[in-house]
Amino acid sequence: MEIRVTPSPAWSATMKVPGDKSMSHRAAMLASLTNGPCLIRNYLSGEDCCGTLRVLGQLGVPIEQRGPGEWLIHGVGGKFTAPKDDLDCSNSGTTMRLISGLLAAQPFRSRLTGDASLSRRPMKRIIEPLSRMGARLSTEGPNDTPPLIIEGNAELHAIEYVLPVPSAQVKSAVLLAGLLAKGKTTVVQPVPTRDHTERMLAHFGVPVEIEGDRISVQGGNLPQARDFDVPGDISSAAFWLVAAAAKPGCRLAIEDLGLNPTRTGVIKVLQRMGARIRVTPSDAGAGEPKGRVEVEGGKLSGTTIAGAEIANVIDEIPVLAVAAALADGTTVISEASELRVKESDRLAVVALHLQAMGADVIEKPDGLVIQGGKPLHGALLASQGDHRVAMAFAIAGLFASGETVIQSTECVDTSYPGFARQLEEIIHA
Ligand code: S3P
Repeated sequence: MEIRVTPSPAWSATMKVPGDKSMSHRAAMLASLTNGPCLIRNYLSGEDCCGTLRVLGQLGVPIEQRGPGEWLIHGVGGKFTAPKDDLDCSNSGTTMRLISGLLAAQPFRSRLTGDASLSRRPMKRIIEPLSRMGARLSTEGPNDTPPLIIEGNAELHAIEYVLPVPSAQVKSAVLLAGLLAKGKTTVVQPVPTRDHTERMLAHFGVPVEIEGDRISVQGGNLPQARDFDVPGDISSAAFWLVAAAAKPGCRLAIEDLGLNPTRTGVIKVLQRMGARIRVTPSDAGAGEPKGRVEVEGGKLSGTTIAGAEIANVIDEIPVLAVAAALADGTTVISEASELRVKESDRLAVVALHLQAMGADVIEKPDGLVIQGGKPLHGALLASQGDHRVAMAFAIAGLFASGETVIQSTECVDTSYPGFARQLEEIIHA
């Protein structure tokens, strides 16, 4: 599949984006730990989150689809049955890393596999803490990459763990294992990362102790059956926020959008670049803030993105780099080497593709320096199997002369089914 984009005139739209990917994964996993049915609404129907449901099904969790995006999950109290086959996490690092926390406490062996991209991603970051808790984990790939083998241990013990990388996936894997371990598990996060696990645990009735950068759970406090409505994914909204903010005359409103402060960095960065964005919070149902975001297009200017802000915009950097290429002045992105171990090496791929479109970009070991304002021209670009790269460059195509073709865009379905259709609507608005 491919996405073809030509420059669009100014457009106006009111839209919703699909459910949040991070929250969908967590809602399914926490529901599986309860002892009752939990109805999850607006669950992301993307490949990644369907993968989590499939894996839970293989582990003996009964799951019924009740309607579009509505799944009834019958929790098994965290007592999974041994899978007959490999657990295929396809493209999803979140599935593999979070479910590992739960599998570490099961009295059986699991083998977790992934596609070519996931098979290159580092697993040492979860192997280390989960091994310290008493499970046995190993990898079959080179340099601690999947397939991942987990020999679970029903007698896990609590640990205190200082995150060596700012990763919500690692934090969540340890906290989930902590629920099934003996004693109090504490994760220390020197840099704040998305806190959906902590918020959702509280919504599911699990006491979570948060003191500064320390997050603790007591083993044995399992989630209680609750329903959960997944708000729209701000990481998916980011593509439209950039598309609208950088085009004078555009007007965009996105409704029912997740506005968790550990995820709204993209709005702050764009506002710093001069974007006119208005946020109107609504209720904070189930502990997750949400609301409406409106954008009026205009001219952007360069900025610096570094330090603790990186974790907050980790998935939005490809499209923020596109915004930087469209802005006046220089944008510096640094301390972002974590991007090299995402679905692709996002620093390398973003630099390569922006250069192919005529932008002035220098790739650094830990970031990018983008001299904005050079006219972009269409190009033939490979998605490299990375959904966010594919979508970021489809947005770039709206601002480039001629035609931009993104190849191998099946990957977009991992997080944003319906993206190409919404893009079409905008182009032909
Ligand atoms: C995620 C956390 C981030 C993010 C990923 C989803 C999560 O990864 O890039 O898309 O749901 O916890 P890290 O926490 O490993 O940086």
